[in-house]
Amino acid sequence: MSSHGTPIPMISHPCGPLSGVAEVPGDKSISHRSLILGALSVGETRISGLLEGEDVLDTAKAMRAFGAGVTDHGGGTWSVHGVGVGGFAEPDHVIDCGNSGTGVRLIMGAMATSPITVTFTGDASLRGRPMGRITDPISEFGAASYGREGGRLPMTIVGAAEPVPVRYTVPMPSAQVKSAVLLAGLNAPGKTVVIEKEATRDHTERMLAGFGAEITVEETNEGRVITLTGQPELQAQTIVVPRDPSSAAFPVCAALITKGSDVLVPGIGLNPTRAGLYTTLREMGADLTYENERVEGGEPVADLRARYSPDMKGIAVPPERAASMIDEYPILSVVAAFATGDTVMDGVKELRVKESDRIDAMAVGLRANGVTVDETEDSMTVHGLGPESVPGGGEAASHLDHRIAMSFMCLGMGAQAPVRVDDGGPIATSFPIFEPLMAALGAKLERA
Ligand code: S3P
Repeated sequence: MSSHGTPIPMISHPCGPLSGVAEVPGDKSISHRSLILGALSVGETRISGLLEGEDVLDTAKAMRAFGAGVTDHGGGTWSVHGVGVGGFAEPDHVIDCGNSGTGVRLIMGAMATSPITVTFTGDASLRGRPMGRITDPISEFGAASYGREGGRLPMTIVGAAEPVPVRYTVPMPSAQVKSAVLLAGLNAPGKTVVIEKEATRDHTERMLAGFGAEITVEETNEGRVITLTGQPELQAQTIVVPRDPSSAAFPVCAALITKGSDVLVPGIGLNPTRAGLYTTLREMGADLTYENERVEGGEPVADLRARYSPDMKGIAVPPERAASMIDEYPILSVVAAFATGDTVMDGVKELRVKESDRIDAMAVGLRANGVTVDETEDSMTVHGLGPESVPGGGEAASHLDHRIAMSFMCLGMGAQAPVRVDDGGPIATSFPIFEPLMAALGAKLERA
């Protein structure tokens, strides 16, 4: 179900070739950051191609509650009248971030160094996710937090009245944590330093530089050392949000596993911190080509062309690639079922604290559809059945997780029998046009 709705059971029937052009929506990570950085700037930020999914709309609502002027001009174009760094007003109601870990964690960081008190909550999925990874670093800036046991939402944060800059090593690979610390550092005097041992998506660093902050990144023996000079005057920007590589993964992978398919997914960002899935698929032998490669807004972009690939082989995905494809393991595990041999996904324990425990959700749902899966705390192995051999015919629970729901819808397209998902509602958080877009390619989706 959506954060506010009733469950929407869905069925994906085996279908004929998928073909055509799939124009996927704007990037979720960049959409959240555009609204938040726009709200912290001086002047009017114009955003086109904003993802209008529930997660991002919740962040837009939150920015209004902090005093920014956020206007929807239609057709994916939005404007944000910012309040400037340190200008957040105290919201007079609870901030509900719905299903969005990125939304709540980035906003917590952004408000932690302002003298305001804010209570955050979210849907049942978000209320189960750990926030200690944010409250630890923001306490070093001087913020206090009062949440439920285990650092869960609802949670009240009392922002630091006299913040101090911090030097923080992120204990797990997490762009959300890195970004929360950088956003908190914006309103602390002096230099805030964030160190990440493994590179994670770098949109916050790139965008902060674009908004005029003084920020440097050094590759050292310790890892990536990011240094931000606090209390800049951020300047409003014009932002064109690229299409989301994580959303593109669904039509691309559906085409690889559905007989006879040939799908073009244009304008997808291939920033190396996000493109790990596509490297992996090509290593497996997928017929996936990059066409019209170009640079847009400083990012490598290409049109992805995916054709049915009956010759894919299972591989061991290098664990050091995990951060660059962390949201794509659910759909990769579906593709792996149609490959020959085992696909081993190691170093992925972060999957257990996403919108759902994604290792468990995929393993249980795949088994219900005739696929053998082994799991450990930190890994998942799918024993591939080869092309045209995945039985399907089972039901999977989406656990309020959009990527689990979409992955099982894709499984049904290439399987021998329909696949049912108990609740497709969460798809609206990140990919509100998933159903019409996939149907236009030839998918047979049904709301049961
Ligand atoms: C995101 C970071 C990742 C990713 C999430 C979006 C971001 O989370 O899973 O969907 O926009 O910063 P983690 O930081 O928890 O790895």
